[in-house]
Amino acid sequence: MTNIQALVAQMTLEEKAALCTGASAWTTTPIPRLDLPELLVSDGPHGLRRVPEVQSMSSQSLPATCFPTASSTAAGWDVDLLREMGEALAEEAISLGVDVILGPGTNMKRSPLCGRNFEYFSEDPYLAGALATSLIEGIQSRGVGTSLKHFAANNQEYERFSIDAVIDERALREIYLPAFEAAVTQAKPWTVMCAYNRLNGIHASQNHWLLTEVLRDEWGFEGFVVSDWGAVHDRVAALKAGLDLEMPGPKPTRVNAVIEAVRNGDLDEAVLDEAVRRILTIVCRAAQTPKGGEFDVAAHHALARRISAESIVLLKNDGILPLQSPEHIAVIGRAAMEAHFQGGGSSHINPTQVDVPFAELQKLAGNAELSFAEGYPKDDSLDGGLIDEAVALARTADVALLYVALPSFKESEGYDRPDLDLTAQQVKLIQAVTAVQPHTVVILNNGAPVVMGEWLDQTAAVLEAWMMGQAGGSAIADVLFGRVNPSGKLAETFPLRLIDTPSYLNFPGENGVVRYGEGLFIGYRYYDAKETAVLFPFGYGLSYTTFEYSNLQLSADRFKDVDGLTVSVDVTNTGAVAGKEVVQLYVHDHESRLVRPYKELKGFAKVSLQPGETQTVSLALDSRAFAYYDPAHHQWITEDGQFDILVGASSADIRCRATVSLQSTLQLPSLLHAESTIRSWLADPVGIQILQPIFAELMKNADFFNDNGPGEDENGTDLLGFLMDLPLRSFFHFQEGSLTQPPDDITNMLLEQVRGVRV
Ligand code: BGC
Repeated sequence: MTNIQALVAQMTLEEKAALCTGASAWTTTPIPRLDLPELLVSDGPHGLRRVPEVQSMSSQSLPATCFPTASSTAAGWDVDLLREMGEALAEEAISLGVDVILGPGTNMKRSPLCGRNFEYFSEDPYLAGALATSLIEGIQSRGVGTSLKHFAANNQEYERFSIDAVIDERALREIYLPAFEAAVTQAKPWTVMCAYNRLNGIHASQNHWLLTEVLRDEWGFEGFVVSDWGAVHDRVAALKAGLDLEMPGPKPTRVNAVIEAVRNGDLDEAVLDEAVRRILTIVCRAAQTPKGGEFDVAAHHALARRISAESIVLLKNDGILPLQSPEHIAVIGRAAMEAHFQGGGSSHINPTQVDVPFAELQKLAGNAELSFAEGYPKDDSLDGGLIDEAVALARTADVALLYVALPSFKESEGYDRPDLDLTAQQVKLIQAVTAVQPHTVVILNNGAPVVMGEWLDQTAAVLEAWMMGQAGGSAIADVLFGRVNPSGKLAETFPLRLIDTPSYLNFPGENGVVRYGEGLFIGYRYYDAKETAVLFPFGYGLSYTTFEYSNLQLSADRFKDVDGLTVSVDVTNTGAVAGKEVVQLYVHDHESRLVRPYKELKGFAKVSLQPGETQTVSLALDSRAFAYYDPAHHQWITEDGQFDILVGASSADIRCRATVSLQSTLQLPSLLHAESTIRSWLADPVGIQILQPIFAELMKNADFFNDNGPGEDENGTDLLGFLMDLPLRSFFHFQEGSLTQPPDDITNMLLEQVRGVRV
């Protein structure tokens, strides 16, 4: 074991400062004098973008497997598969000499417009956290590091380097941080990458609360924090906040700024030493994994195919799928020939090979005749000729397979989408083809939801194939021909209209600020609360078979939060073919002091069932599954009360439910104070005991019970209702004439009593 502290002690100030800024676009500064190698990092997250010339930010990278992107893998809801993908990514990293993979990204899908949503998992923090955790565990199990990104609140591309995301404490704790928290505490990523944006006024790269108080002090993160590429503004402030490594390099001015700050006393050298210690710990850990060798290109391609097939979501099926030996298939859409399998930007992989969807169909289609029409051009122009050609072809065929990919000019890292629409040509194409061919299957390639109101009804079936990775072409064929029974479920809601989306009024912000006005209510939490109809709900996806849920069992009817609860349910494949079902567990709180979403995902499992087979799925819920974050206490709290356990096939398809009573073991200090309202005092279990006798007495003496009936004036106004929002102190001041003691003395006496009981 290398003695890191001893190494730090041997380093000069110049060496230490140099280590904290990259030596190149992708490497840290080596220190040959101390035998310290460089650390090489590469994007991430769904394949290696290993640039051979490390000085270059964007030159052609070495061939690597392009796995499906995160919105696709998330729809698989399969933690084991994510782990396997992680192991394969690590093997490629080792082969390509990469120490740390820059990913996964686990930001929340606040708006479907975020251009980079294809790189993120979900609108639900529990699901996103579980998937990120598995991917990290898979990669790191092979001695390769990860960089969990973009910490935090990088939920849009518009002004991403500077926008100030203004998010209240509760929404941060319940929505925007938990996926990071789960991954950090459970999978222990070697590094975390800070986001570009500001969070509540302070750049993430310089945010001490985020990088030190939350990430390290609360969550126990032990790795180093790296900046997103170009996210640092004030190098010294960033070091003080807890940002260890600035990327990319070289940046002599930054190195000199650190040296100068230590020399003039602005930066405590101990802060620099600590950053150096953290970086060196990872440099030395990475060096223990020998690099080089070949990776198994064919095996990884096959894995990419399996993952893609598992993640395809069957959105609609009138029974046409799986295809029943059609003789003539019209294959329409340029995405059938030019697979659209990844997104633009830093995650763009140079694939080892690419499956052409048309060719893969042909392989499985037996003697069927396949013919092709392009359908829509590469650019955004309208081309009636292409539509006419497609219609003519579709008319003569038994079935039309329409491959429609949202083009990169509509969706990429670097810019948000202006709308949720396909191109005008694509919409016209689908309408025209479905008008002549009722057996039309639309296959979508996109990283985030599109609206379908103008054409969905006319289709026979729709497959959401996502940005499907290099083997997606064959995965689609597998699903179309029933070699794979689709089992993907949406990890994000597909809305009916952009105007329905939760952040619609607050996206993407203005004057440099984006206010997360919808608070906790993103994704299904919002649609539930507003009872807003959606196109396809969170958790939704069809199969070629059917499943039944039964025998929901809870380990207890009453339980203490610290003991947790185990939920089990039987799932039966009631159809004729083998299939997989994603069982989802949501928790609904009957009553709480603060407003809560109607239900929240707290567990899930994917089970594989033969026809007629039943399996019991068991899911454990801990205290956190029932808790919410109370900003008044600055902590997660549980409250006594009843909760519903909802188990189902999607957020809108709950199949079984049971009610359970939770007993909270929390001892919380009283929140009551002199300015708390009468309503708060009476709602508080201790406050009511203390206030009630005095309150009742005063009410009796006041002209409260009068000729108009108890608590009403001549207009029928509810006088008690009037009193409820008076602060305690003001209440007593109004009653001064009826009091035997000064009002403030009574207020203080009650407060002392409350504190006496609670503390
Ligand atoms: C992206 C990161 C990426 C980095 C290096 C940045 O622009 O936001 O996700 O890892 O570039 O390519």
